[in-house]
Formats: sequence, C-alpha cells, structure tokens
Amino acid sequence: QISVLEMSHRSSDFRNIINNTECLLRQLLNIPENYKVLFLQGGGSGQFSAVPLNLIGLKKDMCADYLVTGIFSARAAKEAEKYGKVNMVHTELDRFTSIPGTSSWSLNPSASYVYICCNETAHGVEFNFIPDTKDVILVGDMTSNFLSRPIDVSKFGLIFAAAQKNIGCAGVTVVIVREDLLGNTLKEFSSTSNSVAFLSNLTSKYAYSVFCNLSQICLTDVECRSRMNIPFRIGKKGGDETLEKLFLDGASKLGMISLKGHRYRTLYKKIICGLHITFYTGSKETFHRCKARFCIFHIFIR
Ligand SMILES: Cc1ncc(COP(=O)(O)O)c(C=O)c1O
Repeated sequence: QISVLEMSHRSSDFRNIINNTECLLRQLLNIPENYKVLFLQGGGSGQFSAVPLNLIGLKKDMCADYLVTGIFSARAAKEAEKYGKVNMVHTELDRFTSIPGTSSWSLNPSASYVYICCNETAHGVEFNFIPDTKDVILVGDMTSNFLSRPIDVSKFGLIFAAAQKNIGCAGVTVVIVREDLLGNTLKEFSSTSNSVAFLSNLTSKYAYSVFCNLSQICLTDVECRSRMNIPFRIGKKGGDETLEKLFLDGASKLGMISLKGHRYRTLYKKIICGLHITFYTGSKETFHRCKARFCIFHIFIR
C-alpha cells in the first residue's frame, strides 16, 4: 500500500481522491455552487501574498482593510503592504488577547476586501461572529479552526486554510473562493516572472561564458541551451571521470554542491553521468552569489 503523498498526481486514483475530497467538503460546509474549491501548495503563508495579489486590484484604490488580532494577521498585513495600501481597522493592540468591539473599527468602504484571521493560533483569539463588512468582501484565514464548526461560506469572498492543522498534509492549502472574484490578478505578478526570466538569462549566460572561456565541454547546441540546466563534461570530449571527481570535491569546498549530473543510458546502453548546473531561483542574490563563486572557481580550475 502507498499513501497519497507517494502517488502520481496524474493517476486516476489520485483524481478520485481529490474529486471525492471536494464533494465531501462541499457537503460538509454547504458550499454554494458559485464558489470554487482549490487545493493548492504553499501553505497558509503562501496565501498571505496570493490574497492581495489576486484581490487588492478589485477596486481602483488598491487598498485592503486588515484586522490585526495576532501574529498571523500581522504577517498577512505586512505581506499585503507589498502590493497595495493596507488600512489597519483598529489601533495597534499592545497584547493580542481580545478583539476590539466593532464600533471602534474604521472600515474603508472603498477597500477591495476586509481580512480577518478567524482563529489566531498562537494567541488563542477566535472570532465567534462573522463581521458585517457591508459591500466589501470578507477574506478569512481559517487555518486553525477550519471544519471545527459549520460556517456560512456565502458571507465570505474567500476562505483559506492550511491543511496541516485539521484536515491533511502540511503544505496543502484549501482555498474556497467566489467565482466572480477570480481574474483580477495584479499585473505586477507577471512582471515578477519577467524579472525571474531576466535573471535566469543573466546567470546562465554568465555561466556559459565561463565554460566557453575554459573550454569545458557543454553538451548542448548553442541554439537550444537551457537557461535552467547546463550539462557539461570536463577534461575531454566524453569527460574524464578522474578529473570530474576532483572537480566535484573542489567545487563542494567552494560551496557549489549538486553538480553531479543525472545518470542515464544512451541508445547504446552506455551509462552517462557527467556534471550539471541548475539555476532555478532567479533572484538577484542568486545571480551575484553564482557570479562570485564562478570567479573563485575560474581561478581554482585554471
Ligand atoms: C492561523 C494561521 N495562519 C497561517 C499560518 C501559516 O501557515 P503555514 O505554516 O502553512 O504557512 C498558520 C500556521 O500555523 C496559522 O496558524
């Protein structure tokens, strides 16, 4: 027997599990038809950015109201500040032991959404009512009280819950979202991926230039060289395994690890391993770190 964590996510067994889970959840919470149920990765913290990225642009003022009642709503508010204006609904609390009375809240009618953490896990502060936010949609983090009691889903625009507390494996997050709220993702989201693309280009170009200068052997044709993975050999065409071992030992002393290539068989059953470099995270830091290491590395293998 295998567990769900070990199954192929494309298998029909897994499809059945996910479809049944959605049906059960819809029954348990009486989820209206016009709500989508999503099973996502990234945990609850992933939603701290996914929520503003997808909802703060709903109205032109690009602002959101946050009720900060503990560390998790505080973190969510801090994250949202990256994408728009965040209004704190009540004055900062010196201790997270209560929820200020609704009459003291200053809700902004032109906010795109109002955010609450339905149960602040670390502080044990739980909303025992669903705030009336008039025409502004309500977003609820239910990570630590999801499925612990019936809720009226229709009072929320979006509910999310990291699964690890009450319902499943760490890393999985359930999102229940009203359909008409989808499709408002900030354009900045695509420019983030542009900058990732730009940095991957830069990093791999730099790495290729080092390899060409050193006449190491890149295995791929110039026209189809990946910006993500560079397989290469050193010493001679087809590689010199003794030199490559020396190279791997030396590189690991410089903090360059995971350079051993994937083992595979050629058509003629010869086992090839060789070396490779991967660049998955296109941050500026990655680029500068790689550049610095390649400079030292350049001196090392000359
Ligand atoms: C209420 C609440 N929100 C968000 C999170 C963050 O979830 P994750 O650890 O899955 O990122 C937690 C984690 O304990 C939580 O209790």
